[in-house]
Amino acid sequence: MSKRQRWATKTGLILALAGNAIGLGNFLRFPVQAAQNGGGAFMIPYFFALLLIGIPLMWVECTIGRMGGKHGHGHSAGMLYLIWNHPAAKYVGALGLFIPFTIALYYIYITSWTLAFSAFSLAGSYEGLSSRAAMGAFLDGFQGKAVNEHFGSLAAAYGAYLVTLGFAVFVLLGGIAHGIERLAKTAIPLLFLIGALLVVRVLTFGTPDPAEPDWNVSNGLGFVWNPDFSSLGDASVWMAAAGQIFFTLSIGWGIIHTYVSYLQENDDVALVGMSTVGVNEFAEVVLGGTIALTAAVAFFGIQGTEMIAKGGAFDLGFQAMPVIFQRIPLGQLLGSLWFLLLFFSGITSAVAMCQPMVALLQEGWNITRNRAVALVTGAMFVLVQPVILFHAYGFLDELDYWVGAVALVVFALFEVVIFGWIFGLDKGWTELNKGAKIRPPALFRPVIKYVTPAFLAVILGWWLIDEVPDKIRMVGVAEEAKPYVIGARLMIVGLLAGICLLVGRVSRNWDDHPGDPTT
Ligand code: PHE
Repeated sequence: MSKRQRWATKTGLILALAGNAIGLGNFLRFPVQAAQNGGGAFMIPYFFALLLIGIPLMWVECTIGRMGGKHGHGHSAGMLYLIWNHPAAKYVGALGLFIPFTIALYYIYITSWTLAFSAFSLAGSYEGLSSRAAMGAFLDGFQGKAVNEHFGSLAAAYGAYLVTLGFAVFVLLGGIAHGIERLAKTAIPLLFLIGALLVVRVLTFGTPDPAEPDWNVSNGLGFVWNPDFSSLGDASVWMAAAGQIFFTLSIGWGIIHTYVSYLQENDDVALVGMSTVGVNEFAEVVLGGTIALTAAVAFFGIQGTEMIAKGGAFDLGFQAMPVIFQRIPLGQLLGSLWFLLLFFSGITSAVAMCQPMVALLQEGWNITRNRAVALVTGAMFVLVQPVILFHAYGFLDELDYWVGAVALVVFALFEVVIFGWIFGLDKGWTELNKGAKIRPPALFRPVIKYVTPAFLAVILGWWLIDEVPDKIRMVGVAEEAKPYVIGARLMIVGLLAGICLLVGRVSRNWDDHPGDPTT
């Protein structure tokens, strides 16, 4: 077995995992989910989901990842096969390649918008567009949803995409320590610096509009931090909270496995998992929650903020925030920093999403990293075309629903059952505790075995009954958008089938089981 790549330093490893977990989910998705689901009312289910799904799954994935790395696997297909010696395990594990690869297609595209908007803000390109509607038109023009006086074509969006993809390629070519770790060591401290600066600025907004005394910072903070028990009985708030935990912690994607596989054998996975959760939650709740949400409440009021959130994941970040920055001193610079923060969070996540597939090709065919990176990113470039061209018809949203929401839960459910029931909780728990300086509380044993799987099964069941049938029948989808939605589904099926075929081929060379994966 050739020598495995490793993270160079402990700090670098923590930063890389932080870079993986902290993403657009923390700064764009979280505030919108919180606002859509009643602010403080969202936070209680969110906290439960963190405790009952987030932390246990993080530990499960870290444990599987370290075992996998020891046996030369950098992706969940090989790893699950290692702990469950059954052909089905490879194909469950293939989900952990399919999910990040598919999401990376649109995630890199969205990340490129943040880069473009950072430049637009600095250059004053949208100066004077001081209402949300005007900013909305600017964004629509940029995304190709409308041709207007701001943009006549997709050229700007395309250019930004190429630069972003090129940067991701450059980082991936550097490999684990020299590429991904190096990027994280610069980008993550900068991200926290910018985040802190923006938090301080937002907290000093006071009451920006004297005519609206309720629109102020303290009501903004109260919106998130005052617990509100009213919606605890509302299943959809629980679903949204659990979905957010999956997205933000990068669990259920197959990616934590990959990053952890580059650890040393005796590294403390319990601690690594817990610090990743801690750093990510700080970035999400403290930075992500304060910046966009508090600012929005101060300038648009609570009702206004809830209205904005109804518009989906992007209206808050790309419409409301630019309007706010135009109303404050040094707004061009601060706005540019806001988008730069988003870019740093996005790019460190984007490279993470590419890495499992790179690992599969490199390990499976013994090709060089450069070739593997070229193949993966080349395929992405081809496949992203419909995502860019048909964004106006909901192509991206369709991918996001099936892969970015449903598939994560499916993969996580399989994985936690394989870990707790087939591999065996006792073995798994011992493995988690190997080299652990912090001891995971024993309370998490029954959580991993019973509570997490039950929680996930309920989520899936509820989805299947309540949402999926209408979704499949395309209820509410405009007639002219239907062919594109179907196209997106064909792409999903094709990608899943293609990746399963690849895994099937590569797995002929896996010779590391049966026996004991823990040794
Ligand atoms: N956690 C990232 C976010 O919050 C998304 C992500 C998932 C990144 C999986 C890498 C891997 O945006």
